[in-house]
Amino acid sequence: MATIEERPLDIDKLHGFVFKAVEEVGATLNTALVVMGDRLGLYRAMAGAGPITPAELADRTDTAERYVREWLNAQAAGGYVEYDPETGRYTLPPEQAVALTQEDSPAYLPGFFQIALGSVHDSPNIVEAARSGQGVGWHEHVHDVHEGCERFFRPGYNANLISAWLPALDGVIEKLESGARVADVGCGHGASTILMAQAFPNSQFVGFDYHREGIETARGRAEEAGVASRATFDAVPAAAYPGEAYDLVTMFDCLHDMGDPVGAARHVRQSLAEDGTWLIVEPFAGDRIEDNLNPVGRAYYSFSTLLCTPASLSQEVGLALGAQAGEARIRDVAERGGFTRFRRAAETPFNLVFEARP
Ligand SMILES: C[S@@+](CC[C@H](N)C(=O)[O-])C[C@H]1O[C@@H](n2cnc3c(N)ncnc32)[C@H](O)[C@@H]1O
Repeated sequence: MATIEERPLDIDKLHGFVFKAVEEVGATLNTALVVMGDRLGLYRAMAGAGPITPAELADRTDTAERYVREWLNAQAAGGYVEYDPETGRYTLPPEQAVALTQEDSPAYLPGFFQIALGSVHDSPNIVEAARSGQGVGWHEHVHDVHEGCERFFRPGYNANLISAWLPALDGVIEKLESGARVADVGCGHGASTILMAQAFPNSQFVGFDYHREGIETARGRAEEAGVASRATFDAVPAAAYPGEAYDLVTMFDCLHDMGDPVGAARHVRQSLAEDGTWLIVEPFAGDRIEDNLNPVGRAYYSFSTLLCTPASLSQEVGLALGAQAGEARIRDVAERGGFTRFRRAAETPFNLVFEARP
């Protein structure tokens, strides 16, 4: 009969764990409060405004003072705003103001919280899926997941894609400047497609994603950005998008979400020009579990449990690479798809950037 080895309880460790949990429950609830502050314009009204009372903030945002007061106290307890007991006023420090209000800053955070809130909202479906082993498709999630994803990733693309990731690829900038054909596969709301279309007016971009609603949003975004003539969008899966002899195929934070990434890789290989390039951007990860047991890995493993793994399992093959696949597994996918050259071209604390060539 199996025996369970009893270890004497370390009461200090137990207390420490309980207090850590208190902090984490506060942080979990703060996800909703950050989205609330973003949606009601509370952070934007505080940015650069100096010390402010709850009544003044409520007045400026056309909200109810009692809610705003409680929200401010939660924000102060979490270190998101500062409270001065002498005056009863609250201040949004400039660093927090950048991270919570400046959409063009690489530090911009509201999208991160919005996708987290949407993921938690949908978690009862994941509990059921974990019982049955079924998947939950990307398209089955609430809007906060889709829009939060766009708003979460866009600042990183703004900061890196044109200035660092594309230049890290062999000969790609020259082609884009003179006129290239580019497919952005798994494009979501088209943040990356539009950014590239804005930077390279001589090239043609087409975004593909199986999620029809996302593609409609991407079309609207391209209109707003004035690039609809060179950034078009089509609702098709990665294994079946049309066109051939592309100079560049890109996949941003989506290969691991696909049910059959090897099938997708094969399709990329046959749709590329002989000297074409496949750019794969994936979440930062080491190859071993123990490499990823840190705050970034924790966030990604959590998103992976609630979004990425179920998304892949909802599709044919259901390889379920997970959001912490790491370089070795992505290389394996590319090689099995028929690519002979593969290298890590760039990285950030949040992303791995790979170049695969035929
Ligand atoms: C995490 S989102 C990333 C979206 C976008 N690339 C971005 O960076 O904002 C993953 C995307 O992959 C798409 N996707 C998942 N499986 C797909 C498939 N088999 N074919 C095409 N797109 C797929 C989803 O619809 C979703 O838009």
